[in-house]
Amino acid sequence: MQRECGERNRKRGLDLTPPVTKQPLLLPSTLKTTHSLYQGSFPFYRLPLEIGHFSLDEKRQYHADKRRLRYFCLPVGKEGKQVSPGWDLMNGYESCYVKRNEEEKEGLLHILTWLGKNRSLLGANADKGIARPVDRDFVTWRGHLTKILCTPYETQEGWLLAVTLFKGTFYISEQETVAACKKRKERTPEQEKLMYSGYKFENYICADSLESGPDKCAVVNTNEAFCSVLLARLSSHSLLIAGEVDCIDPSPKSPLPPSCYIELKTSAQIRNPHQQRSFNRYKLLKWWSQSFLLGIPVIVAGFRSPEAKVVSIERFRTSDIPHLIRGERNSWDPAVCMNFCNKFMSHIKSVVTRDDPGVVYLFAWEPGSEVTYTVHTDDEYTVIPSWYIEAMN
Ligand code: A3P
Ligand code: MG
Repeated sequence: MQRECGERNRKRGLDLTPPVTKQPLLLPSTLKTTHSLYQGSFPFYRLPLEIGHFSLDEKRQYHADKRRLRYFCLPVGKEGKQVSPGWDLMNGYESCYVKRNEEEKEGLLHILTWLGKNRSLLGANADKGIARPVDRDFVTWRGHLTKILCTPYETQEGWLLAVTLFKGTFYISEQETVAACKKRKERTPEQEKLMYSGYKFENYICADSLESGPDKCAVVNTNEAFCSVLLARLSSHSLLIAGEVDCIDPSPKSPLPPSCYIELKTSAQIRNPHQQRSFNRYKLLKWWSQSFLLGIPVIVAGFRSPEAKVVSIERFRTSDIPHLIRGERNSWDPAVCMNFCNKFMSHIKSVVTRDDPGVVYLFAWEPGSEVTYTVHTDDEYTVIPSWYIEAMN
């Protein structure tokens, strides 16, 4: 299995020692990731504006609607206090679990589908009341940006990001690394269960409709998703970001998207100061990055016991997280994350100069190293499929 991953990725040139027959061009320009280099004031980041949405059904089929948007539904005990529900996060693992096929690499497929269906928003003849075409230097998934934001503090997992410049827009799509592929294929049963438990928590706390409560016995199907499409700006870079949204606050006082969305998370129960430091250092960095990028103001976390029962539920305001971790030893700094992302985007703009859907610039990073890149003109890493090129021409 290990050989299989290595072989496939070697064929794709992922280990930067390319086969003789498909030698990519290795250029010298690199980008440092050391966090101390990115300290400073927080760069300008405009609160994201939602411009669209789509749903993916139980078969991973695209729908241009909100059918998979779920409603937040937290059980409340006496006197308005939140209950510690004791939900079993392993319930249904054997019998009610449909897992998305992780071998199928979708890349930017669903974002491109949305873009293809919303060309009127993008072209010069913009309608729907938008006076000027949607400004977008970069198109990508929120998850890819989260990885970029966390890079200065990441010590374990590297990444590969394929970038293609097409009609003035940089499309960024992640490629699985050899190590990530190996890790995925060698997941232990405990790791598989942990993955399931995160999704099961969503089932306990979300309802499919306003009329019904959560269906605690519903099948967990990880093909299903509701995705928001948003516009944001980081310094001089305009971004079109799509990201999966867990649920919406259905209360009448709830603000407009994305401020009405809620991110759901699970984590192991914290029992000592060491676990608290580790939670603050690693989990809160990822939770903050993920939610901040989309402008999601609230994270609702379920803490689980070793027996996978939910023992408490806590609500975090995304904007409070930087204050919670400030001053701790070996902590992280949100400004560093955003400054690095800003620099990386400027780096992409200076390196990726060929506006050609057939050219892929593959940026590679491993902890302790600098970001390097190779240029590829074969179809191993294609970011932009031919149907999209035709649709946009
Ligand atoms: P938790 O985040 O509660 O662990 P998300 O929170 O990003 O919407 O993801 C929902 C759940 O998908 C996660 O719940 C986790 O169970 C699973 N998941 C997401 N990304 C994962 C990853 N890289 N590895 C393993 N599980 C992942
Ligand atoms: Mg979540």
